[in-house]
Amino acid sequence: MLTLALNKGRILDEVLPLLAQAGLDPLEDPRRSRKLIFETRHPELRLFVVRSGDVPTCVAHGAADWGITGKDTLLEDGGQGYYEPLDLGLSRCRLMTAGDPTFVPVPGQRLRVATKFVKVAQRYFNDRGVQIDVIPLGGAMELAPLIGLADLIVDIVDTGNTLRANGLAPLELIEHVSARVIVNKASMKQHQTRLGPMLAALEAALPEAAEQGVGP
Ligand code: PRP
Repeated sequence: MLTLALNKGRILDEVLPLLAQAGLDPLEDPRRSRKLIFETRHPELRLFVVRSGDVPTCVAHGAADWGITGKDTLLEDGGQGYYEPLDLGLSRCRLMTAGDPTFVPVPGQRLRVATKFVKVAQRYFNDRGVQIDVIPLGGAMELAPLIGLADLIVDIVDTGNTLRANGLAPLELIEHVSARVIVNKASMKQHQTRLGPMLAALEAALPEAAEQGVGP
């Protein structure tokens, strides 16, 4: 039996129709159940649903043979212990810096950056020679500049509505984000004969999913 780890939330909503087209969908809807592990229509695949950051953890440790999560999560995780063979092109958004458009940094003063993407933010500003203090937050990053907790934020921007609604603006693009398939390195070798066809079925389902409006 192979195990797939799926990202809760919007990625799950967009990936379930794709799994259905590939014959890999769960026998019951994980969004309507308190169960944690689900059998699928494929006799050799089961799946579980976890928070985004737990997908790469489970796959890297081999608790799941493969997983689906966002590129933002993988950038923050660092990408050790798994391959990233497939970009599903779903759940597209941008990882950006954002803030009050009138904010002017004081020369020589460290920037305070609120984010849940701590490593991404540190890397991004470090590469540009900008010294920052990271303010780690679990969500609602947009609040931080409004209450004087931070000068800037690093966050996901999709429609930009959340930023606009709070008088903030997107500033610099850090990375384009979409849902990615990751595969445990050992599983890729040991279970290639079963994993290969599952990944191929998922990839084959992509254009059809796009035509139905759930794809890129
Ligand atoms: C994400 C992100 C922004 C918002 C961006 O939050 O953190 O707040 O979506 O989307 P928009 O550009 O379309 O407004 P999400 O709702 O996923 O919740 P989170 O704060 O728990 O991450």
